[in-house]
Amino acid sequence: MEKNRPCIILEQPGTRYYCACGKSGTQPHCDGSHKGSGLHPWKVEIETEKKVAICTCGISKKLPFCDGAHKTLG
Ligand code: FES
Repeated sequence: MEKNRPCIILEQPGTRYYCACGKSGTQPHCDGSHKGSGLHPWKVEIETEKKVAICTCGISKKLPFCDGAHKTLG
């Protein structure tokens, strides 16, 4: 996964848990590696099949989704 660019994936309907700690080996999804850190994944209900852009830079105001804020980084 390229740093400071969103991770764009096609999601199917259902509950998704996106990593908020940065330790997951299955980015952008949570793999449970956050346990003991005090952090928790973002829980999102996907209603219909769609492409989602998941933030990897951490400064989006719409986490876990990208809002384009990475473009302000050098
Ligand atoms: S592994 Fe990162 S939030 Fe679960």
